[in-house]
Amino acid sequence: METSSIARNSRVFRATRVERAEARAAVGRLRRTNVMSRGRGQRASTADLVAAARARHQRDRVRLLDDPYALALTSPSLRRVLRFRPAALFLANWTLRGLKPVILGLLIRARYAERAVEAAFRDGIRQYVVVGAGLDSFALRRTDRVPPLEVFEIDRPAMQEVKRERIRSAGISSPPGLHFVPADLEQVSVMEALSNSPFDPGDPAILSFLGVTYYLSPETLAESARSIASGVAPGSRLVLDYMLDEASAWPEHRKMRAQLEEYVAKRGEPMKSEYSLAAMSELMAEAGFRTLEAVTMMDLAERYAEELGPLPFETPGLFACGLFGK
Ligand SMILES: C[S@@+](CC[C@H](N)C(=O)[O-])C[C@H]1O[C@@H](n2cnc3c(N)ncnc32)[C@H](O)[C@@H]1O
Repeated sequence: METSSIARNSRVFRATRVERAEARAAVGRLRRTNVMSRGRGQRASTADLVAAARARHQRDRVRLLDDPYALALTSPSLRRVLRFRPAALFLANWTLRGLKPVILGLLIRARYAERAVEAAFRDGIRQYVVVGAGLDSFALRRTDRVPPLEVFEIDRPAMQEVKRERIRSAGISSPPGLHFVPADLEQVSVMEALSNSPFDPGDPAILSFLGVTYYLSPETLAESARSIASGVAPGSRLVLDYMLDEASAWPEHRKMRAQLEEYVAKRGEPMKSEYSLAAMSELMAEAGFRTLEAVTMMDLAERYAEELGPLPFETPGLFACGLFGK
């Protein structure tokens, strides 16, 4: 990152009067627009929200993820909101309140996945495929690993254009090991998409599906997992997060779950699947993957709190993460 963008990032939450006015206007615009819309031209929205949540997390004393690029990667209007603390609080506590469980869970899933990638790297894996990468900044941050680790980011072409443009305008340098693989996964499979890139199916890889499975039916997820299991080399791994079924979710978080389901369904992006830990292991086994770890986010939160101290937020007992191997 160039000095100018480091300087821009370091003044994240100190806003001038003009910026405060812009932040208020941006919150107003966000309230009027459907930020979760799947309509044309708004596809980048969920990825923008993830990046915004990561950027906001940089202010927390205990951090699950250090991401100095999140702010530069999120949309200009969310960036303006984040620079002004009251606007950021309003956004989190009011405009996006229905999404709060997802926003809290995304930090845990990101830490879990990045640790799985680190362990895979130590075991000799040199390819990382990020399915539905959005504005993920792993490859930009981890130049100590990338290369020799080759990162293949799969997302819709429009999303990738936006991301490249934000990388360019923030003056962030893109490491030679980062490969953008534009694909609409409703049209082509993960393996078909990778066949148009330098990905080597003869070498083991680790693949992540973060913030993606809830929107796929169990049949579609099983189909994707089968195609990946038959296309990747032995020793490959898959890491993902998913929604727990009602019986496995923490009873005290059921209200949160109902609010979340209502929120996303209203916005045309319904949650399509939920699993117990055992049901996810079974789906993966049928597809050709064995379970290396199945863990709820509540258990992960406890694990991370032991490492880092009390976490700065409540963890929704609604999600789980899994690591699978071929
Ligand atoms: C919620 S974001 C998750 C971003 C990132 N994985 C994370 O957790 O930080 C979901 C991403 O999946 C992408 N996506 C959704 N449907 C897709 C499709 N059919 N083909 C390719 N990418 C898709 C979206 O563009 C978006 O970037």
